[in-house]
Amino acid sequence: MSSLLKNYFGLIRRFIPKKEEGSSVGIDIGVSSCKIVELAREGDSFKVLHWAVQPVAGGDVEAAVRSLLNQVTSPVENVFTSVYGKGTLIRFIEMPRMNLEDLKASFAIEADKYFPFSQDQIYTDCFIIDPQGKSKKMRVMAAAVKKEMVGDRLKMFNALGYESDFIGLNAVALANTGSMLNCPDSDSEIVGILDVGETVSSFIVLMKGIPQFVRDISTGGRDLTKRIANAMALEFSEAERLKCNPGDRLSEIQGVCDSAFANLMQELRLSVDYFMNEHNQEINRLVLTGGASLMHGLAKHIESNLEIKVESWNPFEKLARADHLTAEELAQKSNRLAVALGLALYQYD
Ligand SMILES: Nc1ncnc2c1ncn2[C@@H]1O[C@H](COP(=O)(O)OP(=O)(O)OP(=O)(O)O)[C@@H](O)[C@H]1O
Ligand SMILES: [Mg+2]
Repeated sequence: MSSLLKNYFGLIRRFIPKKEEGSSVGIDIGVSSCKIVELAREGDSFKVLHWAVQPVAGGDVEAAVRSLLNQVTSPVENVFTSVYGKGTLIRFIEMPRMNLEDLKASFAIEADKYFPFSQDQIYTDCFIIDPQGKSKKMRVMAAAVKKEMVGDRLKMFNALGYESDFIGLNAVALANTGSMLNCPDSDSEIVGILDVGETVSSFIVLMKGIPQFVRDISTGGRDLTKRIANAMALEFSEAERLKCNPGDRLSEIQGVCDSAFANLMQELRLSVDYFMNEHNQEINRLVLTGGASLMHGLAKHIESNLEIKVESWNPFEKLARADHLTAEELAQKSNRLAVALGLALYQYD
């Protein structure tokens, strides 16, 4: 395995040297906004020292990240960040039972057997879903990321004067939030998490806190805004404003968005059916994260189309907060911050 891979690309619960003191910073870099969560360990739980959502203005991601890093309360040694969408892939594969070290070595040689990328273009990582299993076969979650994407992230952080020892995947960071904080009761149930962002929606299914299905769907809030702009002959910015604050034009907006919802529903339906066929179990609940999950009517649409109970999720609910942070503001933004929280939590995993 290349040392770059060891150093820079982690998948789930990857061990890196733990700091007992100090804070941990997770940064979720999105197309529409970047999000930061700064955490410290407090006994058996965690304390939120700082959080922020910074819109990406004019596509300038670096400026948004710089602004976020300028706000943290403790010196930052390391940033935990992630990639997602096109150029990344997560697969669940059945393989002969072996230990993790051998598994990683075999992926380093023959990853292109499992991913539609050539071996020298990707970093891979893998995780044994049932390490205690007794059968000859085991289930493996394997991820691949284009080296170029990891390189670009590292370059940006270096240009800003920061190091990043860990680059994960958004979907796995979300799963990490669910499993490390045992929310939303992921320990006892089969829970789906759907993050609807600007361009990508990530769907994850957790069984006893372990991801069993992951899929990035190439649709998000931008498609809804485009649909509103086209159907109502508005500028994109005006359509965006109306989408977020529809006021008394709500039913008109919802009517216009139905076809854009339909696309997401179809992809979700396929994913849910695939999961249920494979595991012969139902998803008990679905929780929503990501800015575009706030879209009026989306939760109801999912509930009636997929026949799965949809609930809101505030992963910060049980965490302590620094004095200057209010529970209300954090609750309001909590669904935007679930990925950044999962990334910050890797420090303590
Ligand atoms: N109240 C709201 N109602 C509807 N949509 C909203 C609301 N608030 C934010 N959004 C939408 O959320 C999207 C941005 O969400 P988020 O910050 O999670 O995306 P991102 O992480 O930048 O995107 P990606 O993950 O695709 O890179 C935008 O499409 C925005 O219009
Ligand atoms: Mg996002």
